[in-house]
Order: sequence, then structure tokens, then C-alpha cells
Amino acid sequence: MKKYQQVKAHIQQGIEKGLYLSGDKLPSIRELSETLSVGKNTVIRAYEELEAKQVLVARDRSGYTVATINFHREFQAKTSNAPSDIDLLSLSKAILSQPNEHNLLSMGSAHPDIDFPAIRTLYAEIGRHSRQQANIPSCYQMPPGNASLLKYIANITQDLGISVSTREVLITHGAQQAISLSLQALTKPGDIVLVDSPCYFGSLLLLESLGLKVIEIPNHFNYGLDIEAVEQAIKTWDVKAILINPTYNNPTGYTQSESARKALLKATTGIPFIEEDVFGGLSYEGTVKTFKELDTEDRVIYCNSLSKTLDSRLRIGWILAGKYQAKVEKRLMSENMGSVNLIQSAVSDFLKKGKYKQHIHRAQRSYKSNQKRVYQQLTEALDSYANVKQHYYLSQPEGGFLCWLTLPLGTDGTEIYQQALGEKISVLPGTMFCTQDQFKHCIRISFASYRDNEKWNNGIKTLARIIAEHCK
Ligand SMILES: Cc1ncc(COP(=O)(O)O)c(C=O)c1O
Repeated sequence: MKKYQQVKAHIQQGIEKGLYLSGDKLPSIRELSETLSVGKNTVIRAYEELEAKQVLVARDRSGYTVATINFHREFQAKTSNAPSDIDLLSLSKAILSQPNEHNLLSMGSAHPDIDFPAIRTLYAEIGRHSRQQANIPSCYQMPPGNASLLKYIANITQDLGISVSTREVLITHGAQQAISLSLQALTKPGDIVLVDSPCYFGSLLLLESLGLKVIEIPNHFNYGLDIEAVEQAIKTWDVKAILINPTYNNPTGYTQSESARKALLKATTGIPFIEEDVFGGLSYEGTVKTFKELDTEDRVIYCNSLSKTLDSRLRIGWILAGKYQAKVEKRLMSENMGSVNLIQSAVSDFLKKGKYKQHIHRAQRSYKSNQKRVYQQLTEALDSYANVKQHYYLSQPEGGFLCWLTLPLGTDGTEIYQQALGEKISVLPGTMFCTQDQFKHCIRISFASYRDNEKWNNGIKTLARIIAEHCK
């Protein structure tokens, strides 16, 4: 093979192995010529030929990206289109119940960093409210929730671009309960729900426990859900609801563009939608309109919580259920018969202090800087292994605190997870985010609590070494 043909083969193999997906940026001409020890003109010729074959697209100034044309094909190979049952309970239980040891490097859990002044104020408020409880007669905090908290939650939601009144909000036990209530309002056991893939394991667990079947639709950061696959699924199956996490997605960190959102709404007219938006408030720069905001048919149920912006232990979530509100509220009341008064009133008084927005700005800045540092350090560490360099894809989210590492097909993310745990580093294996093991070669990494210290710097190097040992 001539040298430029070898470069072409190298890129094509990367695409076939799932390292470069549609829209992914390819290495620059200089980078690739250095890595493969070939001249720049050789790389240019290879790229130009792949462009002529519509495998790549040249982007002004930003080099080459993989063409969308491959998008559908890549995933068709990996995901069956038929609805599947879910069997994740035992795997998730085993992984999630690992003791959270103090000296573990926490790159696995999706909990926010709590080392912020606002969190200390919050817990001082909870302490104050706790001491008052003995002087207040016992009662249930019935739905929709603490009146003053409802007002502040409506304000937070409005700041996310959704016009909503206090009357339209119901407080739930985290976003998890909001999603559960939405699914119960829209489906019955055996029904089919369409989800973005990879999909947050908590949602898959809910679908499993409610006896629902799932069709996983490939999600990609530039294009959002694969519309062709969505249309195909709707044509073939009686899809009762769509459940997606479009903004700073868990696990990938991807955000669907506004045009992708509009296209998805258009392709799914009439089908109820559940939007999970727990990371939506953590944008580093600018925001994208939510599905709720774009919805013109009152079919989007919006679920959010304070779990990522303040603390997941609060278990404060909310739901805007639109036309399903009465149904959802009835179920909320019968399921809980009141929720935790103490936390609702304490969080309400915390929000009254007006420090939430300032805290969010601080958290956004901090996560943005963590993302940059972890990306730099991890790619540098991975690139130091010849068998890994150019053979992985690490997402670069623009909000939230999760990223997704794709390794060559055949690499076992669960083995990486296990070995990393043995070396006191927690990550999450890709298998938790799908029903058919199609993301076995991926891992989810959290940079929420990154610090530029020895523990993290060494931990990232150790993780890269473990990955190199397993990289096929
Ligand atoms: C996408 C998504 N939805 C829902 C939840 C559940 O959130 P909560 O802790 O508010 O129940 C999470 C938590 O990680 C999540 O990432």
C-alpha cells in the first residue's frame, strides 16, 4: 500500500471501530502526520480522497469531520431496532452499592462537587430548620409541595427559559420520581418507550421495573437523535412515549442543537415526550432551548431537580406535567402521602437568601475549568501509549460534569472499571447505559470534584495505564 492509502485505511478503520462517529473531528493534518510519521501532503491527499468519497467533510478552519452519511449505518450494525426488555437491575445494584470509600478517586459517580460556600449555607439552614421541628405540630407536606419552595422552583425554571407559573409545578422526590410518575401517567406494562442511546441507567432501571420495553435510538452530539431511526421505530412499533436527556447528557455530556430538537419534535408529532433536564442549569456558555420551551402541542413533560446544581441528597425534584398534571399529582399523593417537610422548607429559605444564582455561576466556572483540565490531562496520558493514541474518542461537553470515553470495539469497559476500582479509582462501565452491551467499549467519567493535586494527577495517569492494558 502507498503511504496515503495507509493513512486512508487508518482513518477508515477508526470509523469502522466506532472511534470516530459522524460529526467527530479528525486529528489535524499536522497531528496525524506526526503520529503516523508521514508527510503532511500524504495526510492531505488521504483526507481529500476520503472527502471525495463523502466519508469526511472539510470544515472551514476546523479541519475534517466524519460525514453524517455514516451515522445510521454505524449504529445499525450495533443496535437492533426491535424493542428490548431490560435486565440491568443486578449489574447496577452491584456497581452502585460499592462502598464510597474515602480515599477513592471519584470519577464514577454523577454527584456534584459540594465544596462551595453555598452548600455550607444550605446545610446551616437545614440545621436551623431541623432544630425548629420539635416546636412545629406534625403534619404531612402534601403535593404540590411547600408553597414558598414552589415559587422559587418556578423562578429557577423560568431562568432556564421555560415560562411557567407556580401552579404548574409539582415537587417530587428527585428527578427520578418525576420520571417515574411521567412514565406511569403515559404507559402501562408492556408498552414501548423510545430512549436516547446511550441512556442514563436510572431511566433504564425505571423502565425495567415498570415492565416497559425500550427502543434505543442512537444519539450524537452534533445531530441529536438519529431521525431516520426514530421515524423507522414509530412506523414499525406503537411507541407510547419518548424519554430523553438532551442537555449535557448523562452519560455522554452531549447537547442536542436547537435544530436537532425541532427536527425530533417534528418527526414525533403527537407522541408524549419526557424531558430530563437535571444538568440543564450547568451550561458553561449560552443555553439551548429546552424541548418544553419548543413544544407547541403540550406534550412535553419536563423533569428536573436540584441534585446536580446543589446536592443529590436533598432529593428535591420537580415536574411540569402540563395536561397530565392532575393524573401525576394524584399518583404523587397516593405514593408518598407527604414528603420531607424539613428539607422543603429549609431549601426554600436557602433559596430566599438569593445565593442560588451566584452559586450556579461559580459551579459553571468550576466545572468548565475541570472539564478542560481533565480533557488535557487524560488525552495527554492516553496519547503516551502507542496502542491507545488515535484510538479513542473523549467527548468535550459544554456543560455539566460528565464525559464519555469511547475505546475501540472489543475493549471491555467492565474490566477497566474493575481494575480501576482495585486501584481506588471509580469510573462507570458503558454497559450500564444500554440494553444490548453496545457500549461495552465505553466508560463514563465524572470531573465534578477534580482538583489539580497529586491524587488526581496520578489517578488520571493510572487510569490511562489501565486503559492501555485493556485497549484492543
Ligand atoms: C439524566 C438523569 N436523570 C435523572 C437523574 C436522577 O436525578 P435525581 O437525583 O434528582 O433523582 C439523574 C441523576 O444522575 C440523571 O443523570
